[in-house]
Amino acid sequence: MHRFPLAAALLFFLPLAAAAGGKASPAAAKAKAPAAPPAPLNITAAMAKGSCKAFAALVAASPDALSTFQSAVDGGVTAFCPTDFAVKSFMPSYKNLTADGKASLLLFHAVPVYYSLRSLKSNNGVMNTLATDGAANNYNLTVQNEGDQVTIKTEVSDGAARVKSTVYDKDPVAIYALDTVLEPVELFDPVEAPAPAPVADAPKASKRERRQRHVADAPGPAGDDARPADQRKNSKKNAAPGAPCLRWLAAVAIAVVLA
Ligand SMILES: *[C@@H]1O[C@H](CO)[C@@H](O)[C@H](O)[C@H]1NC(C)=O
Ligand SMILES: *[C@@H]1O[C@H](CO)[C@@H](O)[C@H](O)[C@H]1NC(C)=O
Ligand SMILES: *[C@@H]1O[C@H](CO)[C@@H](O)[C@H](O)[C@H]1NC(C)=O
Repeated sequence: MHRFPLAAALLFFLPLAAAAGGKASPAAAKAKAPAAPPAPLNITAAMAKGSCKAFAALVAASPDALSTFQSAVDGGVTAFCPTDFAVKSFMPSYKNLTADGKASLLLFHAVPVYYSLRSLKSNNGVMNTLATDGAANNYNLTVQNEGDQVTIKTEVSDGAARVKSTVYDKDPVAIYALDTVLEPVELFDPVEAPAPAPVADAPKASKRERRQRHVADAPGPAGDDARPADQRKNSKKNAAPGAPCLRWLAAVAIAVVLA
C-alpha cells in the first residue's frame, strides 16, 4: 500500500536532490546562488531566441532604439515583439519611415515597467511606451483582456494585436510575442472603420475629426506619469510566486533522500 507512492516520490525527487548536490544542505545550496551577479540581459538576443528574430534585427539596426531598449533593462521593461511573420508583411511600410520614425515604431513596442503575464492581465488600460516623449509624442497603447487573451490596441486600428506567447519572463524583463506590428497614431493614419450605420448621404468625416473622436473615446484617465510607478509596485507584488515553491520542493527532496 505504502510502497508505490514512496517509490513514485523517490523517482520524482531524486533528480532534484542530485541537482542540489546530494548531501548539500539547503542553506549551502542557497548561499551559492548570489555569488555571481548575473550579466545584464542582452534583450535583442532574448527576442531573437524566441520567435522575434526579424524584430530583434530591426532593433539592432537602429542605434537609438537599441540603446534605449538596452538601458531600459535595468529599470524594468516589458517588450511586445511581433513575430517574424508579422514583421515580414509590415516591411514595406517600415521601409517608408524615416530613421526617427523607425526608432519610434520599435520603441513603441515596449513599456518601461516589468509585467509578468498575470500582472499584465490585471493592469489593463492606457500605457506609455519607450517611445513616449511628452504630450506631443504620446505614443501610448492600450492593453485589454479579451477573455483570457491579452490584446494591445492602438488608435490606428480597430483590430487588436494579440499576445501569442511568452518569449522571456524573468524580473525585471518580460518579452511577449505579438501576432501583429503595432502602429502608433503618431506615424500612421487611423484606418477607416467599416461603417455599421447607413452612411450613404452622410458626408465623410475628415481624418482630423475622426482622430479627435478617437481621442475623446480613449478609455481611462491614466496617462499621467504617476501611473507607471504605481503599476511597478503592483507588478512586484504579483510577480514570480514560483521561487519559494521550488525551494520547498528541494527541501522535501533532500528530506526524502536522507530518510
Ligand atoms: C547581443 O546579442 C547579439 C546577437 O544576438 C550580438 O550581436 C550583440 O553584440 C549582443 N550585444 C551585447 C551588448 O552583448
Ligand atoms: C511608401 O511611400 C511611397 C511614396 O510616398 C508610397 O507611394 C507608398 O504607397 C508607400 N508604401 C507603403 C507601404 O506605405
Ligand atoms: C494617448 O495618445 C494620444 C495620441 O497622441 C493622445 O491624444 C491621448 O491623450 C493619449 N492618452 C493618454 C491616456 O495619455
